[in-house]
Amino acid sequence: MAKAENLTGGAAFLKARMAALALKLYHSLALNPKPLRVEGLTIHRCPGVFKPGRLTRTSLLLAEAMRVEEGFEVLDLGCGTGILSLLAAKRGARRVVAVDVNPKALECTRLNAEANGLEDRVDPRLGSLFQPLKPGESFNLILFNPPYLPGRPRSLLEAGWLDTGETILRFLREAPAWLKPEGSIQMVYSTMAALSPGRLVEEAESLGLHLHEKREFRGLLETYIVYHFKKRLD
Ligand SMILES: C[S@@+](CC[C@H](N)C(=O)[O-])C[C@H]1O[C@@H](n2cnc3c(N)ncnc32)[C@H](O)[C@@H]1O
Repeated sequence: MAKAENLTGGAAFLKARMAALALKLYHSLALNPKPLRVEGLTIHRCPGVFKPGRLTRTSLLLAEAMRVEEGFEVLDLGCGTGILSLLAAKRGARRVVAVDVNPKALECTRLNAEANGLEDRVDPRLGSLFQPLKPGESFNLILFNPPYLPGRPRSLLEAGWLDTGETILRFLREAPAWLKPEGSIQMVYSTMAALSPGRLVEEAESLGLHLHEKREFRGLLETYIVYHFKKRLD
């Protein structure tokens, strides 16, 4: 089993620090961005919660790639404002369990679900990764826009983007058990992550998943990668 890698090397380290600083500034300035309009939904970006949008990019990249079928049961890990949960519900999911460690994210998800009339299908739960799930629950699709910039978060807000690599490894180890037999994982990742994309795929493949599709998008400081893994049926 891989251990989380430390990002080393001057340029890579500096880029990751710059990105983390930019996110911290963006979230701590008293900016109150207008609600985001996406596919007819209104997403309020609440204080103290990771703000999806054109500047942060990952949420919208995953939203675009997301494949939800009518009647799906979906798990949205690290739901933040609830943007992915609401899009999944709007595109036909029967039920979306939305999990976050940040209580403000759950309040925000609840607010956004009510603002868009989707509260009957979105079930916000407080906790870390799979811990708030009940025995016997299983999902057609697990979504994860994880914190990935290398670092140890010093607040719940910073847990929106910083991770030592341990969260993503724990996610990969535990996710297959919560998927239905034909279930999928769609997640967004980055070349700046604490655990490299190559190691992530290696780990996933060794844990009962196979890479079904991968899309890459060049950003200013990093390349974003949207992965689609399927549960291996052997
Ligand atoms: C990059 S943000 C994504 C938010 C939202 N899904 C989106 O796409 O805009 C990552 C989210 O994961 C949450 N998070 C971090 N560690 C977590 C954990 N161990 N379990 C559940 N949520 C976690 C953070 O609080 C944050 O809301």
